[in-house]
Amino acid sequence: MKEILRSAAILGLVAVLGTSLLAGVDRLTASRIAEQEKRVILEQLGQLIPDHHDNPLLQDRISFQDEQHFPNGQTVTAYRVRLQEEPLAVVMKFQAVSGYNGNITLLAGINFNGSLRGVRVISHKETPGLGDGIETGRSNWILSFAGKTLQNPEPQKWAVKRDGGVFDQFTGATITPRAIVDAVYQALRFFDSNREFLFAEPAETLEGLAP
Ligand SMILES: Cc1cc2nc3c(=O)[nH]c(=O)nc-3n(C[C@H](O)[C@H](O)[C@H](O)COP(=O)(O)O)c2cc1C
Repeated sequence: MKEILRSAAILGLVAVLGTSLLAGVDRLTASRIAEQEKRVILEQLGQLIPDHHDNPLLQDRISFQDEQHFPNGQTVTAYRVRLQEEPLAVVMKFQAVSGYNGNITLLAGINFNGSLRGVRVISHKETPGLGDGIETGRSNWILSFAGKTLQNPEPQKWAVKRDGGVFDQFTGATITPRAIVDAVYQALRFFDSNREFLFAEPAETLEGLAP
């Protein structure tokens, strides 16, 4: 009996230690991913904003939710770009939720007049060799958003070529680009009806929030 109790106690201890170790590794990985994401955002932000702005855009940001345009309860962050307090552009961080393998986090730079400065992928889990052509290191596909507006191309052309639109798909991988095209279109629609609100809202406090 004593022997059984001893074995049970050891087993219990090993289980507790194993779980704690896994939880620790998980936390470490999560914080590494968050750090990596932060670095990529800082790198990419510069490519999506006008050169001449005079506000500290990392601080001049708001976060919000809007289920209609940004589904699955996601929180969107908008970095405002201004010159002498006049709105120039916004960079929005949001997610395309219909990727092949989970959410794709995107940054979209939009001029105040509604034209896209560009789109970049911040993180994704799409399949290497199939869906990862959305990365600038893999192909120029994501650059094709620059200059597009809600009217150009016309709404029914905001789709991949397979669906009758103007955007390329990848060979054997239509789901990933389709998800991004849809998400960017919805972001443009949101901007179109909410740009005054986006620039009028006071900036949020920085404490505890990702960039
Ligand atoms: C293991 C595996 C991984 C895949 N990864 C992706 C992916 O990352 N992105 C994607 O669009 N399609 C991916 N696909 C293909 C999709 O299932 C689907 O067939 C494709 O997107 C449809 O595009 P198509 O009509 O050009 O074939 C993957 C398929 C398999 C079997």
